[in-house]
Amino acid sequence: MAEFKEISPNAPALAHVTNWFENRFPTAFDAYRVHMSEYYAPKNFNFWYIFGSLSLLVLVIQIVTGIFLVMHYKPDAALAFGSVEYIMRDVPWGWLIRYMHSTGASAFFIVVYLHMFRGLLYGSYRKPRELVWVFGCAIFLCLMAEAFMGYLLPWGQMSYWGAQVIVNLFAAVPFVGPDLALLIRGDYVVGDATLNRFFSFHVIAVPLVLLGLVVAHLLALHDVGSNNPDGVEIKGPNAPRDAAGHPLDGIPFHPYYTVHDIFGVSVFLLVFSAVIFFAPEMGGYFLEYNNFIPADSLKTPLHIAPVWYFTPFYSMLRAITSEMMYALIACVVAGAAYGVLKAKLPTILKPVIAGAAVVVVLMMLSIDAKFWGVVVMGGAVIILFFLPWLDKCEVKSMRYRPDWHKYLYAIFVVVFVVLAYLGVQPPSKLGERVSQVCTLFYFGFFFLMPWWSRVGKTKPVPARVNFVAH
Ligand code: HEM
Repeated sequence: MAEFKEISPNAPALAHVTNWFENRFPTAFDAYRVHMSEYYAPKNFNFWYIFGSLSLLVLVIQIVTGIFLVMHYKPDAALAFGSVEYIMRDVPWGWLIRYMHSTGASAFFIVVYLHMFRGLLYGSYRKPRELVWVFGCAIFLCLMAEAFMGYLLPWGQMSYWGAQVIVNLFAAVPFVGPDLALLIRGDYVVGDATLNRFFSFHVIAVPLVLLGLVVAHLLALHDVGSNNPDGVEIKGPNAPRDAAGHPLDGIPFHPYYTVHDIFGVSVFLLVFSAVIFFAPEMGGYFLEYNNFIPADSLKTPLHIAPVWYFTPFYSMLRAITSEMMYALIACVVAGAAYGVLKAKLPTILKPVIAGAAVVVVLMMLSIDAKFWGVVVMGGAVIILFFLPWLDKCEVKSMRYRPDWHKYLYAIFVVVFVVLAYLGVQPPSKLGERVSQVCTLFYFGFFFLMPWWSRVGKTKPVPARVNFVAH
């Protein structure tokens, strides 16, 4: 047992209470010191660094409002829609709780997309923060699963048909597909069994994994320390430190960033409340109009579209037509030819690459385009995990990269937004072409990154962070 810490008998009463707890639960006090009052974060954090805390806030909002929704919701195909209407009309403040939860889902994706974009801007995924990024990508996957399963629960037309479309995609997997889809649905069509298992996953299994991953994400971050807009390591071996060993370019998280984050939280809550009180459906983007009609297995809605946060990936799925398969085959052949003829690889690897390319092309020719659409949609998320090893630029932060990198990132953002827009539109010939070009750009951005990230002249990175007191 550790020594008891003594304090002066004349100390204030509160100090005595704190001291009593500290002597009996030192781990909690150590954790507070390590992660808050003595966690030194770079002093040049900017606007982009608010979205991590906001993600945490939205996570808490979703869990708390979710607990209250479960008190009145009925996970039964015959009762689910009615129970949500009951929450909206009869449960005191039920409408508020429900709108907080539904708006929270969209807010979660907004803050997480911005949080991920910050990582991209400042190279936060680079060594030594690869694992922070990988945990982040796993969180993103969980979040998608959580949102998808949650959307089935109100048992409206969009819940029902959206789930039907997405679960049927799994049936396109060769050999095991139909059994896999059956396992997910628990029935031959989306039904009560599906609702029950999605409910169980949505309220307990996925949130548990999500929480575990968020803890791992933050612990890993605090072990290596935060990056910053300059991409300068403030805790590196040569970084300047004061007499006590604290980095000169760092400030304690508490109180400096707690106050900074409280400001961000206040602005966020203003906007969040405005949406909840004045536009909770957000023109059909946050809650689709078709979802106010009870699920009807005999009436397919004319236009089935997922919620906005899935649409960039949904567009990529729709972009993979049998015609597009030829473009993909051409990319595989070109990639393999480059690997065999040009890349500086061990000779032994070259026949392996050529062989693998032949197998992939034969598979692409013999398996349905729908399956490759699913592969492309999944691949668009999975590729993010590999970002730390794809980026070979000498510097981390966008500030010191060649200027044209900025334009490339700007095009990447536009492409992502265009894909999102096309995903909510009904299919059209022009939309299909545009989404095909955007899909190729999206994958090209990542696959060609080991090459383009090395091209161009980087600017000198300063030894210390840029900071102007305000
Ligand atoms: C529930 C979702 C998430 C929560 C609660 C969360 C929370 C946080 C917090 C509190 C920070 C420190 C503050 C900050 O740097 O903004 C952080 C940093 C970071 N997060 Fe997340 N995060 C989430 C999702 C993600 C995702 C999806 C990714 C990427 C795929 C990601 C990548 C990162 C990276 C790379 C850092 C370090 C940034 C730096 O030091 O520059 N996070 N996260």
